[in-house]
Amino acid sequence: MKVKIKLLFFIFIVVSVPVFSQKQVVELLPATREHQLMDLGWRFAFGHATDFAKDFETSTGYFTYLAKAGYGDGAASVQFKDSTWREVDLPHDWAVELPFSGSASHSHGYKTIGWKYPETSVGWYRKKFDIQASDLGRKINIQFDGIHRNSTVWVNGFYVGNEKSGYASSVYDITDYLNYGAVNTIAVRVDASMEEGWYYEGAGIYRHVWLNKTNMLHVAQNGTFVTSEINGDKAELTVRTKVDNQYDHLSTFTIEQILLDTNNQTVVSEKLENTTLRGNLMNTLYQKISVPNPTLWSLENPYLYKLKTNIISDGLVVDTYISTIGIRTVRFDPDLGFFLNGKSIKIKGTNDHQDHAGVGTALPDALQEFRVKKLKEMGSNAIRTSHNPPTPELLDVCDQLGMLVLDENRLMGINQEHFDLLERFMVRDRNHPSVILWSIGNEEWAIESNEKGARITKTMQEFAQKIDSSRAFTVAVSGGWDSGSGTTAQVMGYNYIVQGNIDEHHMKFPLQCGIGTEESNTIGTRGMYTDDKTNGRMAATNRMPENVGTESGWKFYDDRPFLSGLFFWTGFDYRGESNPLSWPAVNSEFGIVDLCGFPKDIFYYLKSWWGTKPVMHIMPHWNWKGREGENVKVTIYSNAEEIELLLKNKSLGKKKMERNGHLEWNVAYQPGTLVANGFAKGKLIVSEQIETTDAPAKVILESDRVVLKADGEDVAVITVQLKDNKNHFVPTANNEITFTISGPGKIAGVGNGDPASHEPEQFVKTVSDPLPQWKRKTFNGLAQIIIKTTTQPGKITLTASADGLVPAILILRSTNDNIKK
Ligand code: GAL
Repeated sequence: MKVKIKLLFFIFIVVSVPVFSQKQVVELLPATREHQLMDLGWRFAFGHATDFAKDFETSTGYFTYLAKAGYGDGAASVQFKDSTWREVDLPHDWAVELPFSGSASHSHGYKTIGWKYPETSVGWYRKKFDIQASDLGRKINIQFDGIHRNSTVWVNGFYVGNEKSGYASSVYDITDYLNYGAVNTIAVRVDASMEEGWYYEGAGIYRHVWLNKTNMLHVAQNGTFVTSEINGDKAELTVRTKVDNQYDHLSTFTIEQILLDTNNQTVVSEKLENTTLRGNLMNTLYQKISVPNPTLWSLENPYLYKLKTNIISDGLVVDTYISTIGIRTVRFDPDLGFFLNGKSIKIKGTNDHQDHAGVGTALPDALQEFRVKKLKEMGSNAIRTSHNPPTPELLDVCDQLGMLVLDENRLMGINQEHFDLLERFMVRDRNHPSVILWSIGNEEWAIESNEKGARITKTMQEFAQKIDSSRAFTVAVSGGWDSGSGTTAQVMGYNYIVQGNIDEHHMKFPLQCGIGTEESNTIGTRGMYTDDKTNGRMAATNRMPENVGTESGWKFYDDRPFLSGLFFWTGFDYRGESNPLSWPAVNSEFGIVDLCGFPKDIFYYLKSWWGTKPVMHIMPHWNWKGREGENVKVTIYSNAEEIELLLKNKSLGKKKMERNGHLEWNVAYQPGTLVANGFAKGKLIVSEQIETTDAPAKVILESDRVVLKADGEDVAVITVQLKDNKNHFVPTANNEITFTISGPGKIAGVGNGDPASHEPEQFVKTVSDPLPQWKRKTFNGLAQIIIKTTTQPGKITLTASADGLVPAILILRSTNDNIKK
């Protein structure tokens, strides 16, 4: 049959991951396509990085999996008995379960993993799963969103592939290896001996795993790419659909595109009829869709459409593919900065790694949401996924909540492996409206300031532009701005004002756009006001503002319209890089919030100038027993025009607040109540009070959510606080809390934000300790516990007790009902 010539087509080699969240799958996917989560019911055991015998004798047989197809041996073989292995659910990070040691890697947070620890650096995972007889004739693949790192995968003893990067999503076609109407076995060997980044990276299958089943004729994985142009009150969408015909014969079909609004009502639809595609070929087909009066995706209203792509063959819908999209335009201007939908927006961002207290890198989706909400609460509107492609669910949350993303590649280079990783990541992420800019690399010290850097940057940008020409590219550069990558990057990524002269660079390269890819924060430990460096903690007042820090950084960027904005280093604390300290400090102190997400004082500086609501924050706390009569520096973060400070009802004077500033008083300490009142045009608009407290008397539990989904994935993030008898938060209390849980829930992890804590974050069941007792100290009054549901609905009861204090009981409800978060 004749191919319609007006269809443009080209072929991509693409392996990648989905654009839908689990919720959409349940609501929208018909039987033609299944996107099935494979997170529950795995078995896990340590192998060994250097001793084959301890690594389940893999590769010691006469024929191995590399010699003959289907010869997976050792733990990769179907017959292998894994009943003594530990049961785990994904996502899973085994590094977070390990103890700390002063001889382990500084940059990776002193966890006992890496080449020095071969016995804890290789992990094996196995899972059995059923495939129905009726699945024969469908195309089936297994999708790993991220395994850290160097993962080798077998299905029914067949070696299906290896992925070295811990940040790449991999998809393996397993159709021909499966036992239909029978049990199947997946085995995964993960080798985390070698580090990929210079920060804590976790270890294991730390992102979701999916099983995808489609018709032989289907939309390829991540096979749609939708871009929009806005003309007056209309949007013109260009929809590219990559169709994969796995039949051995030519197929004739219609592609139907249906744009759905948030109520799943059709907005507009478009058909491309009688298209043909020869057997075993993939083609990308183009369609234009005009949308009258579109609701644009914006920060205030992150409106998401769904594009339902039907492939109709012989009158039957053989595949339905859902793409979540936002209609919006983005533009960087060398003189005027960044524009979203034609509106100028200053990027107020943070850099973030991907680990959280308690769970390491194995973040449940609900925790991604918790983190993005925390950053938004401060008025931040952007995240840089430093320095790697993120978990797809982070981008889903950013789409849903209206958070801009600078989406970053891992390693720079121009060879097949680099390009393959770059392409997979961009094809996976390019439909997300939140992604406004791609970063192709960060601080590549060997090349960033020389000719090689200039050439590699140019070559990578040219390659990447073929995958997405609707967005620009940046490279984050830490020096030699005028001589290397900084001469060819489309958008210059400045890492730190102090590393060069931004104004001069801009004058030399007036056509280049600019963004602060990294800027220094006021670093320190939450709730600490004097350095305790030998014990691994720094005062939260470090480096501010006279030297470098959050305030001077923000003022610099806010003053220059040609700079599109900045990303502070970092939003959240992360494990590793406890610079400038080292052991016993194990976590970074760069964050604006700590590892749990508890705000440090500087959070309120940014909230004052980034947010839209009146803010008042008093630093430090008012528990200075023994320092009576001594001067204590009191700092006020607020956006009120005028502030009055009162100690024990006595005014210490009024001061005017400067834009982007803060205020200070020296106050002779006396126990009592300190009040700060904020005025606008003489009227009181905001007030804050802190007081000298008594010793802690009770434990308080507060959950971010009390109704959870009984899906074995949902989590509640619970704050543990210590209060005194008068119900005042005690900011200096470090008491050990013991947790017990009953009902259909389990503890996913505990933390407290202390950058030098060596307490366990996980209490793993062992044969000798089948019921370990979960414990954690509060740190400066706070701790966090994360509770995960099981697949059983019901009441989950959490009790938190501490010696001599009134315990707290919290009840959560886990349900199968549809719940609104
Ligand atoms: C930057 C680097 C970051 C982090 C930071 C710590 O140079 O890009 O990844 O290491 O320094 O100060």
